[in-house]
Formats: sequence, C-alpha cells, structure tokens
Amino acid sequence: MTANHEMSNADMNTNQGSPKPDKIVVFDTTLRDGEQSPGASMTVSEKIKVAELLEEMGVDIIEAGFAIASEGDFQAVSEIAKRVKQSVVCSLSRAQFPDIDRAAEALKSAERKRIHTFIATSPLHMRVKLQMTPEEVHQAVIDSVTRARNHVDDVEWSCEDGSRSEHDFLCRCIESAITAGATTINIPDTVGYAYPEEFADLIRMIRNRVPNIDKAIISVHCHNDLGLAVSNSLRAVEAGARQVECTINGIGERAGNAAMEEIVMAIRTRGDVLPVETRIATEHITRASRLVSAITGFAVQPNKAIVGVNAFQHEAGIHQDGMLKDAGTYEIMRPEDVGLVRSNLVMGKHSGKHAFRKKLEELGYELGDNALKDAFIRFKALADKKKEIFDEDLVALVDDEIAAANQRIKVISLEVACGSRPTAVAAIELDIDGNVQTAKAEGSGPVDATFNAIMKLVPHQATLALFQIHAVTEGTDAQAEVTVRLEEDGKTVVGNAAETDTILGAARAYVTALNKLLTKREKSAPATLSA
Ligand code: KIV
Ligand code: ZN
Repeated sequence: MTANHEMSNADMNTNQGSPKPDKIVVFDTTLRDGEQSPGASMTVSEKIKVAELLEEMGVDIIEAGFAIASEGDFQAVSEIAKRVKQSVVCSLSRAQFPDIDRAAEALKSAERKRIHTFIATSPLHMRVKLQMTPEEVHQAVIDSVTRARNHVDDVEWSCEDGSRSEHDFLCRCIESAITAGATTINIPDTVGYAYPEEFADLIRMIRNRVPNIDKAIISVHCHNDLGLAVSNSLRAVEAGARQVECTINGIGERAGNAAMEEIVMAIRTRGDVLPVETRIATEHITRASRLVSAITGFAVQPNKAIVGVNAFQHEAGIHQDGMLKDAGTYEIMRPEDVGLVRSNLVMGKHSGKHAFRKKLEELGYELGDNALKDAFIRFKALADKKKEIFDEDLVALVDDEIAAANQRIKVISLEVACGSRPTAVAAIELDIDGNVQTAKAEGSGPVDATFNAIMKLVPHQATLALFQIHAVTEGTDAQAEVTVRLEEDGKTVVGNAAETDTILGAARAYVTALNKLLTKREKSAPATLSA
C-alpha cells in the first residue's frame, strides 16, 4: 500500500473528507523533554523567551514543563500559561493525583490548556520500574485520565515505552484512556528502539484494533538513540499519526528527541510523498535554533540538517559552479525559508548599530534594545582586537550575550601572571548579586589559578567534568569558544563563552556554568551564595 493510498483511506482525525492536506499538530517539548537532557537547564525567564518564540512560530502545543517536578518547573508552566495565548500550553504529569492536580494548578491561567499524563505499559517498565501488575496499570490509566478530565477538556495520555509494549495490553489501555476522556493518545518510542517500518506498523495496528480510536488524535514521540527519531515520526505520520512531538535542535533525554526543524522541513519539502502540512512559520526556524542553543549552551553540530552552519554552504568547486547557474542544482530548500538570509554585509570596526542589527537579523537573531546595546559594545571591542569579523564571530558573541543575560554572578575583570614561573597567579573580580568581590589564587597554570580564584568567591562541591576550547575562526586573533561542564549531586550544567582572550573565556564559561548550577539548586530550594 502506498503512502498516498493510506492517506486517502486514512479516516483521519482532522480534516476528515477535506481535499486539503491534513494538518499535523506540532507538539513542542523543548521546555520539558529537551530541558531534561543533562546540562540543558533553563531559567524561568529563558523558558518564557523560548515559549514566546514557539508561539510566534505557530507551534500548536507547547509542553512547558513538568509542574510537580520542582518549584522552578511549576513557575515556568504557570508563567508561560499566563503569557501564551495562541498555542495550547501543556504540563506533564505522572499517573498520580497530586501530579495531575499540580499540573492543573500551574495551567490555571492558560487560555488553552492540556494535561499530559503518562504511565509505562511495557512488561519491563511495569515490573521493574513501577512494580505494578498490568491490571493495576490499566486501572491507573482510567483513574489518571478521569482525574485530568475533571480539570480540563484537553487530555493527552502517553504509554511510556509504548513501542516495547504488548499489543493486546496496549490496545486495551488506549481504548480505556479514550473512554475515560483522553483526546490525544501519544505513542512514545521512549528508548529510541523502534525501526521506521515497525513503528509505522504499530500505528496501523492501533488504528485497526482500537475500536474508539477515531475519537482521539494519535501522536508520536520518538527518541533518537539509533538516529531514527525523525524517520520514525515521519513513517508514523504516513501511517496515520496526526500529532508529532519534537524539540528544537532535537535536544532531549540521552540522544534527544525528533528535531522539529527536520520534521517540519521534510513535510514542507516533500509534500509530494507525504501530503500533509504543519502550521509552522518556517522562517523562524534559524532564530529558534540559535536561541535554544545559546540558552542551553548546546552547540549545534556544523553539519546538522536545516540549522547547522554548513547546511546551506557550498564548498566544492563543482557545487559552487552549479549553484551559480541554478541554486536548484544543489539546494532542495531555500535558505530564506528557514530564516537564513544570504548577504554580503561585511562587519568591521566602522560598522554602525543599524548595520549590526540588520546583520544579526540576517543571522536569525532578534534582540531587544538593551541586549542589542550590550552586544554592540562587545562587537566594537571585538572589532578593535580582531581584523576580520566573520559571521561565526557574531554568532558566538550573541550566543554568549544571551547566555550571560540575568546571571547572578558576572566576571568583571581578570588578571593572570603565568608563563615560565613555577605557579600561575590569577586575580579575579566578580559581581555577585550586585556586590563586587575580589580574590587571588595560585594554580599549576593560568586556567587552574583562575578557577581556584573563582572557587574562593563561590565555594562549591561540583566537579569539573569537561573543559574544552575551540577556535571559532582561523588565525591567532580568533575567538576561543570555551565549554565547561560541572557536575554536582547528579546534576550536570554546561557553560560556554567566547573571547579572544582564552583565559578570560575560560573564566566566563566557568561562571556561566556556576550560574546554571545555582538555578538548578534554586529549583528545589532557594539558593544561598556563600561568598
Ligand atoms: O519518552 C517518553 O516516553 C516521554 C513520555 C513522558 C511522553 O517523554
Ligand atoms: Zn521523551
């Protein structure tokens, strides 16, 4: 059976009988599953920024967090619920009444709200993790969905580890969830184990066997452990799924989730094989990717589909020749469709604020007035130190600026003495919650001395799990992009900074990571800075 044949026979949950292509509901979980990935913590204000952009992009459902998980998550869901008007705002909850009630409380002010409740249905998860019998799980499905429906009309139920669940039991749980009032049934491939055709068969099986399936939308939620999350999601859509769960840049637990930009652009580009549509305004994709990358500190790999810096670059002579004759020779999408503008606007020492703003817009950034002013000051300082300013320099600079906004600890100055002397000495000045404090420390080298000095002002137990430096561009005056990963009590945080002075970059990356650690601590209890 071809995909098209399946579509016309699909008895789809949306747009039934309409000649128009079916709409795929885009459910973004960057702020929930994405934020669960180690190191990707976001503050409430950062989450609000991302949610506002997701709404502007036309995302149908924004999963804003897991309200019961922490005070920070609750606050993020409720603040997003207050602000977002067009998209449905959703909170995750386990199949427990306190979770569901907390989700409802956080969503109180949302104009359009959804509770997403889940429980595992695979034999392994039920036996080992939940230590519940299938009968108990089945009852929990009914009770949790009923409870959620008492709060809201829009309830999504997920069978965690659905792709490894027994079919009879899975169908029974789905049927009962729909009878209890679930309006969306989500089938997660929680561990990224499914194979595309197998996952499509699972969706077809559910559509064929669950008697009341026409009363709900089938959703899929695919993890990327085998690099198949996007393929599995698209095959599921071919088989009749009408909601796809995804994240910006594919961030998420372990290897991540299906990347929204890849799903959306595959659907847009290959409407000939998959005649469906999304409501996403794709020209915001680059901006969203950059924002999420800057906030989480998770760099996007250069060759990443759609949003990698090389995704629309043509290096080989033969390709360049073809491109000059007709862009269609090597380009299947137009860069402007994802918000990338080709330009020859060269930035340097003499560029003004207007050109700077325009250049940032072309690179996919839209900064507020204050952020633009700060970024411009840093750009001027960089232009004084560096002969040529490349787009990569500006991307590093602005990402750095976004990550540094609203931090409790900031580096004011750093002086280091190092070289052939027995020990290096660093003197650092930090602004901690508005108080300027200084410290001096020795170390085996400049980085060690700098980190020791910071440690004197911000004592902590975290271990340095990663310290990495790479040059943003070529040349000895290139900016160094420094990444620091800290681990404390099972929590991982990542800090990035870009500077022409590598040691100053290291100090700032370290401080950014410490700021994130404080945010993580604040989520469970108000943080105290002992300095
Ligand atoms: O991967 C998963 O199973 C999940 C569920 C909570 C939907 O994230
Ligand atoms: Zn997940």
